[in-house]
Amino acid sequence: MSRKPIIAGNWKMNKTVKEAHEFVEAVKDKVPSADLVDSVVAAPFLALDRLVADAKGSDLKISAENVHFENSGAFTGEVSPVMLEDLGVQYAIIGHSERRAMFAETDETVNKKVLASFAHHLIPIVCVGETLDEREGGKWQSVVKNQVTKAFAGVPSDQAADVVVAYEPIWAIGTGKSASSDDANEVCAYIRKTVADLYDETVAAKVRIQYGGSVKPATIGDLLAQSDIDGALVGGASLQPESFLALLDAVK
Ligand code: G3H
Repeated sequence: MSRKPIIAGNWKMNKTVKEAHEFVEAVKDKVPSADLVDSVVAAPFLALDRLVADAKGSDLKISAENVHFENSGAFTGEVSPVMLEDLGVQYAIIGHSERRAMFAETDETVNKKVLASFAHHLIPIVCVGETLDEREGGKWQSVVKNQVTKAFAGVPSDQAADVVVAYEPIWAIGTGKSASSDDANEVCAYIRKTVADLYDETVAAKVRIQYGGSVKPATIGDLLAQSDIDGALVGGASLQPESFLALLDAVK
C-alpha cells in the first residue's frame, strides 16, 4: 500500500497575519503537486481566513492548530469546528503535547475533537508521544497505545483511515534532539499495529503516520525512507519559506 506523504508545518504561536500572508504568497506556487504530497501549514486562528483565501487554487492546504469539540456556546476564547469549516480550513491539529501539558488537553478531549472534526469535514492530525521519563522507563508502548486507542474511540472504520497520526516524542520537540529514524519508525510501526488491532489491516495500511520532533531539511529524507513514516509535523524548520520548501523537496 503506498500512502501519500503529508508534510505539515506547525507554526505554533508565531507570525502575525501579515507575516503569515507573506509566507503563503512566497510558497504557494512552489509546493509540489498535491498528487505527490499533501503540503500543509498550520497557523494561528487569526491568520486562517486570510491564508485560506491566499492558498485557494494552489496545492497548499491550511490547518488549524487546535479546535474545540462543541459547535458553539459559552466557551470563551475557543474556536469551533463549525467556524473552521465555514472558513474552508481542511485540517486541525489535535492533542499536541504543548496543549496536553499547558492547556489541560486530555485523551478524552482529544477524542471529542477528533469526532467533532469529522462531523465538519476537517481532517484531524492527532498528536501522540511519550515523555523522556516514559521512554527511559520502557513505557513508550503503553503510553502511545493508550493515546491512540482513546483518540480513535467511536471513529467508524471508513473515517479512521483518514486520521493522520503524528508521533512526536516530547523529548524531541524543539530540543534539536530528533529520534533516530529507526527508533521513530519502530514507534510508527507500533502505532500502525495498534490501529490494525482496533480496526483491521486494511485501515491500518491506509492511516498516515507522521514523525515530529526537531525535523530539519537535512533529516527528513531518512525519516521518509522508513517503512511506516508517511510524513512529518515540523515546528521550527517550517517557519521560513525556504526551509518549508526544502522539507517538501524531500518527497519529490
Ligand atoms: O508540531 C511540531 C512539533 O512540536 C515539532 O516541533 O520541529 O520545532 O521540534 P519542532
